[in-house]
Amino acid sequence: MTNSQNKVTLRDPPELVLLYPLSLDRKSASLRQNSFALYVMRKLRIAIQADDSDLMSGKRQSFSERWQELAAIAGHETVSVDAYSEDFFDSLSGCDGFMWYFPNAPFYSDLGKRLMLAIHQGMKLPTFPSWRTCWFFEDKHAQHYLLKSAGVPTPSAWVFWGRSDAEAFIKEATYPLVFKLSFGIASANVRLLNNRKEARYLIDRLFGDGMSILPMKSIRPLFPEVSDRLSNTARSLLGKRVKDHFADAPIQRGCALFQEFVPDNHFDVRVTIIGNRAFAFRRMNRPGDFRASGSGSIDWDPSRIDLEAVELGFDVARKVDSQVLTLDILKRQQRLVVVEISYYYEAWAVHRCPGHWRWVSSAGDIEWVDGEMRPDDAIFEDFLGLLAGDPCLVDSSELKA
Ligand SMILES: Nc1ncnc2c1ncn2[C@@H]1O[C@H](COP(=O)(O)OP(=O)(O)O)[C@@H](O)[C@H]1O
Ligand SMILES: [Mg+2]
Repeated sequence: MTNSQNKVTLRDPPELVLLYPLSLDRKSASLRQNSFALYVMRKLRIAIQADDSDLMSGKRQSFSERWQELAAIAGHETVSVDAYSEDFFDSLSGCDGFMWYFPNAPFYSDLGKRLMLAIHQGMKLPTFPSWRTCWFFEDKHAQHYLLKSAGVPTPSAWVFWGRSDAEAFIKEATYPLVFKLSFGIASANVRLLNNRKEARYLIDRLFGDGMSILPMKSIRPLFPEVSDRLSNTARSLLGKRVKDHFADAPIQRGCALFQEFVPDNHFDVRVTIIGNRAFAFRRMNRPGDFRASGSGSIDWDPSRIDLEAVELGFDVARKVDSQVLTLDILKRQQRLVVVEISYYYEAWAVHRCPGHWRWVSSAGDIEWVDGEMRPDDAIFEDFLGLLAGDPCLVDSSELKA
C-alpha cells in the first residue's frame, strides 16, 4: 500500500497462478491434492537454456521444449537464454530460477556444471540441476569420492594419481578387474582386465600421452563410435548438424580408476530418482559381455525389480542431496552395490516405466503409483515446488536469500 496526499491506493496485486494445474489431470494428482497441488503461487519467470540432444539410442530429446510448454500452460513466463553468451548473467536478472538439462558432451557438461555452481554461489538463484545434483556428472573419479564419503555400498575401487602407485597396485591385484575412464557413456569406456599385462598397457598410456577412448577388443563396443563417425561424415556432407556423443572427448592423463569386478550379474538395475519418485527397470547385458549400459535390452516389468534397489536409490539421493539421480545397481553376494551415478539419462526409457514408487516421507515407506510419467514433467513440477517453497524440495541454501 502507498499513502500519498492522504489518498490510500492499493498496488496491483502480484499475478497469481495455480502451482500444479497439470497434476490435476493425472492419476498422481490425488496423492498431492492434500499437500500442495492446489497452492496458488506468484507468477514466475524461469530462464531456460534450450537442449536438443541426439541420443545414443538414435532418439532425440528436448526437455526445454516441454518445460516451455508446461510453463505456458501453468501461466508462468519463460525466458530463453544463451548460456554461451557474454550477457548470460544479465539475462538471468529478474528470473526466479534457471533450468538446463545439459548432456554429457564436454561442450555442454563442462559449461553446465560450472554455471550451476557459479549461479548458486554468486546469485543464490535456484537451478535445475542444482550443483549438488550435477557436479560429479561424467566424472567417475568424482563419483567414487562422493559415494565413498557418503558411505554408499559400492564395489571396492581405487583411483591412482601416480604411476608408481598404480604399478604397485596392478602387481598385487586380483584379476579380472574392471577399468574405467573417468568419462564415457553406454559402456564405451569400461573394460574387463584379465591380467596384469592388460592393466600395464593402460597404465603406460594413461601416465604417458593419455587417452580419450579405450582401445577396443571387439567390434561391438566400438560400434557406437564408428557409426557416429560415419553418420557425422554423411551429415556434414549434407550440411546437417553433427551428433556429438564422442566429439571433442577430453583426454584423461595422469590418473587411473580400477573397480573390483562384481561377477554373476546378467543385468543391472537402473533406478532413476526424481524428487520423491523412483522409476526402475532392468538392463540386460550385451550377449557374452559383463556390461549392461547401452545394450538397449530393457525389461520394464516392475515385479522383477528388487525393492531394496529402489530403497537404496532413495537413500543415496537423500544422502547426496540430489534433485534427480540415476543409479546403476548390481548384486554382490546378495548385497546391492552402486557402480555408477548420474543426473542425465534417456528420458524415453524412464517414461516407458508403467508406474513409479513414491517415497512417503512421513511413513518412511514406499508405495506404487500406477501409470507412466514423463521425467521432464516430474522435474518441472518439482522445480516449481522448489520455487514455491515446498518443504519436501527446499534446500534452504539453494534458495534466494
Ligand atoms: N565393477 C563392476 N563389476 C561388474 N560389472 C560392472 C562393474 N561396473 C560396471 N559394470 C557393468 O558395466 C556397465 C557400464 O559401467 P558404468 O560404470 O555404468 O559405465 P557407463 O558410464 O558406460 O554406463 C554397467 O551397466 C554394468 O553392467
Ligand atoms: Mg552406467
